[in-house]
Amino acid sequence: MKGIILAGGLGSRLLPLTKITNKHLLPVHDKPMIYYPIQTLIDADIRDILVVTGGNNAGDFLRLLGNGSKFGLEHINYTYQEGEGGIAEALKLAEYFAGDESICVVLGDNIIEKNIAAAVDAFRKQDSGARILLKEVPDPERFGVPVLEGERVVKIEEKPAKPGSSYAVTGIYMYDNTVFDIIKTLKPSGRGELEITDVNNAYIDRGELAWDILDGWWTDAGTFESLLKAGNLVAKTGANNT
Ligand code: G1P
Repeated sequence: MKGIILAGGLGSRLLPLTKITNKHLLPVHDKPMIYYPIQTLIDADIRDILVVTGGNNAGDFLRLLGNGSKFGLEHINYTYQEGEGGIAEALKLAEYFAGDESICVVLGDNIIEKNIAAAVDAFRKQDSGARILLKEVPDPERFGVPVLEGERVVKIEEKPAKPGSSYAVTGIYMYDNTVFDIIKTLKPSGRGELEITDVNNAYIDRGELAWDILDGWWTDAGTFESLLKAGNLVAKTGANNT
């Protein structure tokens, strides 16, 4: 399984912080934001990693991460997203890197307390399909929200005004190699982006979306409020079991 970190976008919800740098290079407590999702993949024994970046200052990722040796990696891969086409469009750029393998995708602003090793192992045993991680949150309307019927996720709604559950779909996704065919069928959403939620709904339509509840705290860090929250959580308990 290969790992992909999506670290593009203009970070417009964090202006003016993101006027002169990329969101994923901003500090979260004592480390640049991008360190956390890299560690999340490594902790799940995924060591072949692609960083998809974009926007301004993309070269700074090279200076910061180099060849990945400070994470104990032998090598790290990079690619560049032109413009702001959404998460699924950024993922499209990973098709060549993925080859015929399955992938684990982590959004570059998602930070976790513990690890995803058990879910990744469960996905390794899955023949095909997708696997997502859910987390109960006080503000589901900010996220992709699963509608559950018993144990089954019947659909996911992106930022619904009236959430169908109190869970968020976290920005950690495992996909088989058909994800790239699904992305090619997507149409831009109301906000002009290819939505990762549409990818997940395509797997639901095929009856091939599995899910787990993420253990430990989880937060994104893409707004002033969540960036502060992320820093405080990391300062208090550490992240990635550190
Ligand atoms: C994205 C996804 C959303 C998901 C969230 C997790 O939202 O579209 O479904 O719940 O990441 O961080 P965004 O941060 O782009 O608003």
